[in-house]
Amino acid sequence: MNNPQNLKEHWNKAYDKADNQLGWFEENPTPTMQLIDTCKLEKDARILNVGVGTTTLIDVLLDAGFTNLIANDLSNLALEKLKERILKSHNYNLNSIVDDLTKPIVLQNLESIDLWIDRAVLHFFLKDEEQTAYFNLIKKIVTKDGYMLIAVFSLDGAEKCCGLDLKRYNVEMLQNKLGNSFKLINSFNHTFINPFGSERPYVYTLFKRC
Ligand SMILES: C[S@@+](CC[C@H](N)C(=O)[O-])C[C@H]1O[C@@H](n2cnc3c(N)ncnc32)[C@H](O)[C@@H]1O
Repeated sequence: MNNPQNLKEHWNKAYDKADNQLGWFEENPTPTMQLIDTCKLEKDARILNVGVGTTTLIDVLLDAGFTNLIANDLSNLALEKLKERILKSHNYNLNSIVDDLTKPIVLQNLESIDLWIDRAVLHFFLKDEEQTAYFNLIKKIVTKDGYMLIAVFSLDGAEKCCGLDLKRYNVEMLQNKLGNSFKLINSFNHTFINPFGSERPYVYTLFKRC
């Protein structure tokens, strides 16, 4: 399916199943945490996880002692499931924002984000104007000396996910989109094995705003 009329409905439908039945479900977000560890952030750093879905990364960040988390998604169902799980498991009231990264309204009002995290979201934005809106949002709300972590399907990665076409990236393409005010700190390739046993090659990148 290409560019469904109602993407919110599409994603809400995708989340109407158990987490471990999602093609992107990651039991341990180890590669993401590996990059976050190198940032040496304060525990009260403002961390925004965009297109968060129901990721286990939120549990792991709370277990690591981080206290100031914001979760965004287009799918209100994903956010409701995530919030409920986190309230039960960690007695933590997760700050959540339903908003479209390609037409941000509420997200525009955020400021001083110390760490932006995106795993498996940017590659869904096929149109130039969607990518521009996404990168403009980063430039607007990530603070000086803040970090940007993007894990995205690499050039040899899958061409579709969740029935949608994808745009795949390498480090240079991300650097070009971010411009000179973001410095590459680290990057590596990682092949994720999804719950159905298929290989999904990603490139993981960490940039710092200077
Ligand atoms: C492949 S899932 C990845 C979820 C999560 N980041 C993870 O690693 O488990 C992509 C996520 O992006 C969200 N998403 C898709 N388009 C979006 C948009 N325009 N704005 C915000 N979130 C979006 C979907 O609802 C979904 O939760």
